[in-house]
Amino acid sequence: MEPVGIDAVEVWTGKLKLDLPETFAPQKGEDPDKYRKGIGLVGSSFPDLYEDIVTMGANAAKRLMDRKGLTPDDIGRIDVATESAFDNSKPVSTYIAGCLEQYFDGEFRHANKGERKFACVAGTQSIDDAYNWIRAGRNRGRAALVIATDTALYARGDPGEATQGAGAVAMLIDEDPDLVEISNEQGYGSMDETDFLKPNQQFPSVDGKRSMQVYLSRMREAVEDFESVAWDMHPDDFAYVPFHTPFPGMVRKAALLGYRHMSRDTEIEDALADEIGRQPREDDYASREAYEDAIREYMDDLKETEQYQAWYDRTIEPTLNISRQVGNWYTGSVHIARIAALQYAAEEDRDLAGEKLLVGSYGSGAQAEIHAETVQPNWEQEIAQLNVDAQLQARYDLSYSEYEHVHDSHNHEKGAVDIDDFTEPSDEFVFTGWGRMNER
Ligand code: CAA
Repeated sequence: MEPVGIDAVEVWTGKLKLDLPETFAPQKGEDPDKYRKGIGLVGSSFPDLYEDIVTMGANAAKRLMDRKGLTPDDIGRIDVATESAFDNSKPVSTYIAGCLEQYFDGEFRHANKGERKFACVAGTQSIDDAYNWIRAGRNRGRAALVIATDTALYARGDPGEATQGAGAVAMLIDEDPDLVEISNEQGYGSMDETDFLKPNQQFPSVDGKRSMQVYLSRMREAVEDFESVAWDMHPDDFAYVPFHTPFPGMVRKAALLGYRHMSRDTEIEDALADEIGRQPREDDYASREAYEDAIREYMDDLKETEQYQAWYDRTIEPTLNISRQVGNWYTGSVHIARIAALQYAAEEDRDLAGEKLLVGSYGSGAQAEIHAETVQPNWEQEIAQLNVDAQLQARYDLSYSEYEHVHDSHNHEKGAVDIDDFTEPSDEFVFTGWGRMNER
């Protein structure tokens, strides 16, 4: 069977930046270390006034198609994953296709277009849809364009304000991919939850602490489900483990949970037995509550061990290199974690071909998905084409009052806000009104 997976990726970051420790924290009367050390974010990316989910998605896709020498005729499917959609009928992919048709020679009339919604996991679900479409042989030799695009803004004063972000990731899903092959097996943890909602409202209603618990519970279930169809995983099976990253502090918790699970009944547990004891077994406890307390205690100790810290530094920390600077991109978050890991490996001159990634996606509401990917021989040439660092460096650094204006300008309820663009668009799509995107 031909491998199917991600052939190419491109990223578009919102062109503004809010420095969280230096600019945001002092205004909120908070210790900058809450951001540097606790939440783990040093910056959030924001859309300039002429950017929105359509233009960011179209610009990422334009760059990807340009770079790969593609025309609309090469694309048989365009799926957009977003939780920031503004139209309950017409999918965002039609708006993006309309932008792209202004630039490329040809039209996407033959392409199946759609919009996927399940909070942040929708980006991965769109990849799954594209994968299944290709595997079913319905692609007629064409590739799928998957675009994850979001403006992850919260109401001002909401605790979520600390984790905002905006950006898009465009991915080409195809046979014989250059970047990663996607495994056929997936594990799910899915349950009706109400910790994070946006019912006909722009900014989410969030129970932040509960949302973190739900993330961990669904992720644990997804890991167990994946093992039931794939294999009993070992921490060293994977070069990197990119997780959905609403903020790095969340991934620190998920990583510990994953390591504890994967190291159970392995030589790692044996080696740690003298130092921190063996992992609690449920049968040894009178109640579920007592067992969970014992697990928590074990994890607190595990976190401090050299073995765990070395694994974390090797497989998790590099996945956070972009997120730390941009905040939450919702549907794009796990996909920038993968890119960050591959970029790090390239910088380290590491030969990754044939190695595995364990990808943990998550969407509130709630669903986690676990799957494995195998890095392909051309990964390094592909990843070397990205200019993420240059985009991040070029962002305009907002003062706090400028941030408030930008936030207002993107607030659908506030209407027009009288400020100028902060950056100069060049060779890119810009927002000129709902559904009217033009090159300027
Ligand atoms: N030095 C070091 N660390 C500090 C510190 C300091 N001076 N001050 C605080 N911290 C630590 C805290 O101990 C805490 O770490 P732990 O969780 O490990 O204890 C961390 O910094 C954050 O501090 P708080 O809990 O006090 O922060 P908060 O009350 O402002 O809320 C939040 C944080 C709940 C994440 C909030 O930002 C929020 O609601 N975010 C939106 C929801 C979210 O992102 N949920 C994630 C799971 S859901 C999901 O993943 C889907 C999605 O994308 C939204």
